[in-house]
Amino acid sequence: MNNATGKTPAGNAKSIRAKAMSRRQFLGGSAGVCGAILFALGIGGAASAATNSRGLKGQAAGITKLKDGKLAVDTKKVKSLGKVGGVAPLGTVKGVPAALVRTGASTYVALDLRCTHAGVTVSQAGNEWKCPAHGSVFKLDGAFVAGPAGAPLLKVVTSRKGNVVTVG
Ligand code: FES
Repeated sequence: MNNATGKTPAGNAKSIRAKAMSRRQFLGGSAGVCGAILFALGIGGAASAATNSRGLKGQAAGITKLKDGKLAVDTKKVKSLGKVGGVAPLGTVKGVPAALVRTGASTYVALDLRCTHAGVTVSQAGNEWKCPAHGSVFKLDGAFVAGPAGAPLLKVVTSRKGNVVTVG
């Protein structure tokens, strides 16, 4: 007999199992509802692989994901690339966090945003990239400025045809 509830231990076990079941059932139901909502909003996993004329999640309009995992960036349609020093966040390219930076009148560089110190993703801070982990700093074109990282950000392979830069 349990002093607090007046139930036997066996009764408590049944009660706990019943609560666990209902929690599981609740979570299963919630997951289904959440999945339906995400699907309806078009932000489920499968939807993120599709082309979206307004830009993929975390990306500007003018960026299209290709079947091979590369990204096609129409530099005339991505507003942030309208001037030298402009940056277009690309989300991930083949699993790598990346951004395309306009470095000149008609030159661009795609950067792997993983810090060369220990791999933490850097963030843009004005005209630099800063690492939130230990403070490394890089120029917008990826050049090394301050450690503890000792090397520039890596580049992601690009090719260009007209206004379109293919990244990946
Ligand atoms: S991981 Fe970026 S400074 Fe350490």
